[in-house]
Amino acid sequence: MPAPAVREPPLRFEGRRVLVTGGSSGIGAATVSAFARAGASVLATGRDEQRLASVAASADAGAGAARVRTFRADLCEESELESLVEEAWSEGPLDVLVNNAGVGSAEPFLEVATGTLRRIIETNLVAPFLLAQRTARRMVASGGGVIVNVASTDALVAESPFAAYCASKAGILALTRSIAWELGHLGVRCNAICPGLTRTPMVGADLAGDLKDAYLPRIPLGRVGLAEEQAAAILFLASEEASFVNGAPLLCDGGQLAGFWYHPRHAPAPQRPGADHPAAEPETPERGCP
Ligand SMILES: NC(=O)c1ccc[n+]([C@@H]2O[C@H](COP(=O)([O-])OP(=O)(O)OC[C@H]3O[C@@H](n4cnc5c(N)ncnc54)[C@H](OP(=O)(O)O)[C@@H]3O)[C@@H](O)[C@H]2O)c1
Repeated sequence: MPAPAVREPPLRFEGRRVLVTGGSSGIGAATVSAFARAGASVLATGRDEQRLASVAASADAGAGAARVRTFRADLCEESELESLVEEAWSEGPLDVLVNNAGVGSAEPFLEVATGTLRRIIETNLVAPFLLAQRTARRMVASGGGVIVNVASTDALVAESPFAAYCASKAGILALTRSIAWELGHLGVRCNAICPGLTRTPMVGADLAGDLKDAYLPRIPLGRVGLAEEQAAAILFLASEEASFVNGAPLLCDGGQLAGFWYHPRHAPAPQRPGADHPAAEPETPERGCP
């Protein structure tokens, strides 16, 4: 199934204030653009000011209006995270927080260095935890809001060699449930998307190399996702249309986690010529790779 052309978001966010972390790249940049096109006022944050400025310029151009502000912050520095929260509320109450910034590193469990583990947990779990907490305190006081966390299929199943990343993403899914459970009655909804393999700079090198041969036969739609498709799932969870969705993990993975393996004799892995899909080798299905 070919990737759809990028469409106008059907959901509208006029008058809504949205903060997107990791807005300088990939899924975050697409989310900034989608919210801007949907009429929201967006604060995009990241560490790379130049890339943030370029994302903001292109999102404003796509929206036909100046809707995106930027703020440089390293989320692993608590003082910078606090400054970001101040900035996010400087123009009025924040309606939506998208905890999207994240990092990964391919290291077998037996070899993960303490520094790598700490960097991944700090970025993917501690920072979103603190940002959600600081933001939710204010959301509760101002009458409510929505938090969308970006987890991963790796929050639900193991992928090797990414033990530290898997642990961090399982953690953010648990955090999502806790926030939903504790704050739902106070007017704050919290959900997560679980992206499967998505074409962004984070996985660019993998997709250019032989790793895609291992991944693609396991995705029933026969292709990797687009950042814009993850952004659309994020906008849905942030919208009023999802008003009764709380504490949920929304899989956005082309069906990858829907099944286990293709029986080599009866149901060979799908081969879709021209769809970003290599010839499948179904005879020896690997185990443990979603
Ligand atoms: N792509 C996939 O296949 C995939 C699959 C499942 C889940 N995800 C998740 O989706 C999210 C976005 O990933 P992506 O693929 O779009 O990756 P990406 O293109 O590499 O973007 C990562 C973003 O995180 C920001 N970031 C990283 N460390 C930060 C820090 N300490 N402080 C502030 N910002 C920081 C980066 O900003 P700067 O560079 O400006 O600092 C960048 O904007 C991540 O949480 C990732 O785990 C991705």
